[in-house]
Amino acid sequence: MRSFASLLLFVAVALPAFAGSASSLLDVSADGSRLIVANTDTGTVTVVDTATRTKVCELPAGDHPEAAAWAGGVGLVTVYGDDRVLFLDADTKAITHILPVADEPYGIVTTKDGKRAFVTHDYPGTVSEIEVAAKRVVRTFKVGDNCRGIAISHDEATLYVTEFFTSKLIAVDIASGKVTDSWGGYESDNLARHVVLHPKRPKAYLSHIRSRVTHFDARGSIFPQISFCDLWTKPDGEKRRRSIALDTYNGVYVTANPWESAISPDGKTLYTIYAGTNDMNVSRVYDDDYREIESAGIVRLGKHPRAIAVRPDGKEVYVYNTLDFAVTIHDARMRKLDSVTVCEPAHTAEWRRGKELFQTARAPMGGTGWVSCSSCHPDGMSDGRIWQNPEGDRRTTHLFGLAHTHPLHWSADRDEVQDFEYTVRGKLMQGRGLAQGQMKPRTSFTEFAELEQTTRGMSKDLDSLAIYTNSFPFRLSPHAAGEGKLSVEAERGKAIFASSATQCATCHSGPYFSDSTLAKPFQLHDIGTGDGPREKIGPKFDTPTLLGVYRLGPYLHDGRAKTLHEVFTIHNKTDKHGKTSHLKPTELDDLVSFLKSLPYEQPPDETPNTVKDRVTLTFPKPTVR
Ligand code: HEC
Ligand code: HEC
Repeated sequence: MRSFASLLLFVAVALPAFAGSASSLLDVSADGSRLIVANTDTGTVTVVDTATRTKVCELPAGDHPEAAAWAGGVGLVTVYGDDRVLFLDADTKAITHILPVADEPYGIVTTKDGKRAFVTHDYPGTVSEIEVAAKRVVRTFKVGDNCRGIAISHDEATLYVTEFFTSKLIAVDIASGKVTDSWGGYESDNLARHVVLHPKRPKAYLSHIRSRVTHFDARGSIFPQISFCDLWTKPDGEKRRRSIALDTYNGVYVTANPWESAISPDGKTLYTIYAGTNDMNVSRVYDDDYREIESAGIVRLGKHPRAIAVRPDGKEVYVYNTLDFAVTIHDARMRKLDSVTVCEPAHTAEWRRGKELFQTARAPMGGTGWVSCSSCHPDGMSDGRIWQNPEGDRRTTHLFGLAHTHPLHWSADRDEVQDFEYTVRGKLMQGRGLAQGQMKPRTSFTEFAELEQTTRGMSKDLDSLAIYTNSFPFRLSPHAAGEGKLSVEAERGKAIFASSATQCATCHSGPYFSDSTLAKPFQLHDIGTGDGPREKIGPKFDTPTLLGVYRLGPYLHDGRAKTLHEVFTIHNKTDKHGKTSHLKPTELDDLVSFLKSLPYEQPPDETPNTVKDRVTLTFPKPTVR
């Protein structure tokens, strides 16, 4: 490993970097004097004075603030779960305005004059433009699917946006609001939530992972990647996107889950943080389109780093270690100068320990350092992949409302989240595990040792993992006409769903739209989908919840149906999955529109089937002053 003392000679010269140019939980003001920090789990926003290295104020923000940026002197914060952008005045230490925006605001960038901001909306994949002085949304453009990362070009003519599941980079012309170009990744590229641009050269850096669904193995499934996109169009069609595997980047030292990157104002140093291994790479950036970057060293960080920013003069680097609830301040050589606590620890101690375990690829969870639970279940979501598991093809499920929808897995082969000790110790993660002692061995695909082994109470860590995993709440569907309201079509679809002719509600029953309960024997159903070529357990499956189904395609346990329509047409020819053959095309449209509206009201927080290991997450509500 080369020392990066030599490279630091270049860092001192300040070039025009500016606040808000790439989305992050952390942003430095243009004069370098203040940080704004979005505290996702605690639900607050904090301003830090960089000269005194102290907290200026911390204000309630709501359910999952996901990004913050300075627009001149105004701080802007996207609040993902509440569909809002907050306006913050750091001088009066107050939230001055709450702007309702479209669903799932995720990333945010601002123009240098602070007059405009652009926000990505994760689902359905739009960007909205905010006029800061007027405090209003002036335009919304459709950009792609699940848009998260966003950066603005230096001439402020173009936005660069990443799609979370495909890792595609999309260019949007700001004047017209039209998509003008895109740089697709490999089919296996996944979870690209961030993009940063080089300050001088037309180049974008995307940190993401690669999910190889054909390999079920701690060494072969998940890889950390960085993709470089040349932002000009070559007439000869030369390849404009390259990617390097970061797993061999530091020799034998393994890193996981690259979360975001920042670049020094002189464009010579790239900093990449790893949320799965609590460390970062400092890389030398080459002024060519061939080698791109070279590792100049690894730096150990605090717990679960999710944001990094460089001060515009290049002299200080800020890292947000989200599970320490603190921002560490470093000099340009990454020597730690100080640490500022930005908020209170979120939720409960068990939840926090559970999150730490869920996010890490290191011991005791991972044996190799590549795979963490969150590599496939990012913040409780699905990774949108169909994994070729030993027992058959399985689409990753989301974990929302999990406490109420036990048993677990499509085949109901687990009855406690603590059973994931089998996953931790198994081939996929090869970790030491969270409990002591032997587990009842699995002998065949159809005898479920997990159901016989009682794993709850085996260890505090295992119970903490369960508490975290069981506590992801549902959010209302953006297709609902409002809280508790359905559109006219969805209302007609609801009647079709509830009818004795279709039978849907016999299996998809109750507030979670599933008849599965922990009462044994489990109720599994053969709806004619168990004939997959790799299937070892089928043909019966546990009835999945339909809440949140709008964002989950492809559908069914192995993703065989591309759309919801296909579930009831080409994949239900014999009416084994409810009766749908009698439905007219318009009736099917109505049924699908009802399914897409789920949940249109919050399901109950407690049912007879709700498990004990969980917490109900609460967030402080912002008030305008
Ligand atoms: C390689 C990707 C991958 C990793 C890593 C992974 N999972 Fe999963 N997870 C899946 C897939 C695919 C499914 C669906 C499998 C099935 O139902 O048989 C799933 C299903 C689940 C479910 C069942 C949800 C339900 O509604 O029934 C839970 C709970 C879960 N995973 C938790 C975890 C935990 C905890 C870890 C870490 C110890 C983990 N997963 C690691 C891919 C992964
Ligand atoms: C006999 C019980 C049963 C009936 C009746 C039934 N379902 Fe299902 N449903 C299931 C099971 C089991 C699965 C999972 C099967 C699989 O994935 O292969 C499922 C899967 C689904 C899915 C896919 C969910 C996903 O996440 O991919 C949708 C959507 C759905 N059902 C809607 C309906 C509708 C609408 C009706 C009425 C027309 C209906 N179901 C009738 C048991 C049933």
